[in-house]
Amino acid sequence: MSANDRRPTGGPQSQTYDSTFLKACRREPVPHTPVWFMRQAGRSLPEYLKVREGIPMLESCMRPELVTEITLQPVRRHGVDAAIFFSDIVVPLKAIGIDLDIKPGVGPVIAEPIRTRADLARLRDLTPEDVTYVTEAIGMLTRELGSTPLIGFAGAPFTLASYLVEGGPSRNHEHTKALMYGDPQLWADLLDRLAEITGAFLKVQIEAGASAVQLFDSWVGALAPADYTRSVRPASAKVFDAVASYGVPRIHFGVGTGELLGLMGEAGADVVGVDWRVPMDEAARRVGPGKALQGNLDPAVLFSTPDAVMAKTDEVLDAAAGLEGHIFNLGHGVLPATDPDALTRLTEYVHTRTAR
Ligand code: CP3
Repeated sequence: MSANDRRPTGGPQSQTYDSTFLKACRREPVPHTPVWFMRQAGRSLPEYLKVREGIPMLESCMRPELVTEITLQPVRRHGVDAAIFFSDIVVPLKAIGIDLDIKPGVGPVIAEPIRTRADLARLRDLTPEDVTYVTEAIGMLTRELGSTPLIGFAGAPFTLASYLVEGGPSRNHEHTKALMYGDPQLWADLLDRLAEITGAFLKVQIEAGASAVQLFDSWVGALAPADYTRSVRPASAKVFDAVASYGVPRIHFGVGTGELLGLMGEAGADVVGVDWRVPMDEAARRVGPGKALQGNLDPAVLFSTPDAVMAKTDEVLDAAAGLEGHIFNLGHGVLPATDPDALTRLTEYVHTRTAR
């Protein structure tokens, strides 16, 4: 089933169905190009820093009222066309009992990395009871958001595996690749486990009211196409299949994935996210027909002058002008030192320039 097929008859998804964001995901005509920003909630906002004060990152993901407030902050401030659920890709792993923490300025750190067949047993199935705080937060959020869609998300099997096998953030993913090439069966079983967990986590979010989902394979750009096809795509496809019957748009994004865009689309996405290294028209050629694209202003451009930001935004919009469905976004997450006013101006600029 594709995302185009069904108008929901009730629940939060029926209220957001006619939003500009979801229309663009379905490649329908839109009154203006919709905008949201990866990492739009977070350290660029003073109101975020204020409510997060003294509360560790993982703990804040488990407090529904705080999650609701933080998720709404960028929607209120910038007038973006979609909210993204405030959480982290390692939350489902924490929920099934993996000992991990998110260290400020570092990222996720795993106490005992997963590298052997015996370690696999620690990756048990995720049930809705493990993440009741997610269901509760999404219920509160969708009531507040009304017709503004909420995007749920999860980390893709490769990116989650990279954190689990390395034990933390990694530049070269050497332990991950050692396992992938050295023990292909264990690797396949690990990715399959992660696909089960990720699929279950996305289902929880959609059942609770998310109107779209994004699967972040942030670090998969480290792989060559043949390795991606053989060792990663089956697991990512399993995640997309797990949520296909809901009919909500499925977005797939990774960094440095210019050579993988077509393959990532084939994994089962309705929308392919593009980083800033490939122009949108070229990305459309690589992805092929039948999918919307999301992207792709370099987040570092926002540190430049307003005129330069507008000029670079024009480049993105001009390259995307012929696409069937375009969702404007950055080519990766908002950098923490970004001036939030620059994001508000950018949102307004895209809306005005693309009004039709
Ligand atoms: O607004 C949003 O986009 C929603 C929130 C969100 C967070 N993490 C909150 C967060 C999302 C979508 C994520 C996904 C995520 N987490 C990814 C995929 C997206 C991407 O950027 O490629 C990845 C790779 C992670 C792992 C992770 N968690 C990293 C690399 C970091 C940053 C470490 C740092 O401090 O620089 C985190 C922590 C994290 N997740 C923060 C936020 C707001 C910063 C922690 C804080 O504010 O204290």
